[in-house]
Amino acid sequence: MTLLSLAEVSRSFGGVSAVSGLSFAVRPRQVVGLMGPNGAGKTTVINLVSGLLHPDSGAILLGGRPIGQAAPHEIAGFGLARTYQNVRLISGMTALEQVIAGSYLRRGSSLLASILHLPSARTAMRATREQALHLLERVGMADRGDVLAETLSYGEQRRIEIARALASRPALLLLDEPTAGMNAAESAEIGRLVHALRDDGLTVLMVEHNMKLVADFCEHVVVMNFGRKIAEGTAGTCIGDPAVQEAYFGKQRDAQRHRA
Ligand SMILES: Nc1ncnc2c1ncn2[C@@H]1O[C@H](COP(=O)(O)OP(=O)(O)OP(=O)(O)O)[C@@H](O)[C@H]1O
Ligand SMILES: [Mg+2]
Repeated sequence: MTLLSLAEVSRSFGGVSAVSGLSFAVRPRQVVGLMGPNGAGKTTVINLVSGLLHPDSGAILLGGRPIGQAAPHEIAGFGLARTYQNVRLISGMTALEQVIAGSYLRRGSSLLASILHLPSARTAMRATREQALHLLERVGMADRGDVLAETLSYGEQRRIEIARALASRPALLLLDEPTAGMNAAESAEIGRLVHALRDDGLTVLMVEHNMKLVADFCEHVVVMNFGRKIAEGTAGTCIGDPAVQEAYFGKQRDAQRHRA
């Protein structure tokens, strides 16, 4: 069974082929790692799956439904949530408010009721707040709910982003470099959180450079370079693959040779 599948997906920007003939599948309750050097096309894949971009060709299916031409809010409604490579929190809002805002991404229709202050809306708002508090606890930020987002540390902001994405109760969560800029201990925390979420039934597709994290927490790995898939399989197989080693370390080695 497959939750998400990409079949021969391509997307170019002018002359740059960002994603080229890419196919892979994500099964329910899997944690899949998407790797590749800078500019490989990873974020473009996340943007294609979440509807910010549409493929030039190929098919993307979520739960068997074609979503290649769907808008981001429609795809969110089908149970997908994401974070961004660069943190996108709203300044002036507390950590708790950010997470509450996330829960409205999927339930836009309840907005009118809340403006009219209907009793059902008050009950729903209380439940939403309870859920947000629970999610803050889940990402290890129970005591930071009242803090303005912009005053949180970078690692904390990334956690809030995950909590906000979870607030829409997705079936599939896309994380674009969730541990960027984090130290080893903070990164491992994110890995453990992802694993715990998986145990609760969530499916995760994460862009991740940290090979240890990928090896420890991803059941399946897809590696890209120049828009194409160059390896797929277990983390061990992919990391040991000569094409992957070359993609990650070849340029570095060439540069060292050049300097020597
Ligand atoms: N909106 C855009 N307009 C033009 N070119 C783009 C656009 N988005 C991505 N690209 C190009 O497509 C290629 C893939 O970019 P992408 O951001 O998907 O890579 P990435 O694997 O996420 O890289 P990184 O590890 O640096 O985040 C790059 O050459 C990039 O410059
Ligand atoms: Mg990227």
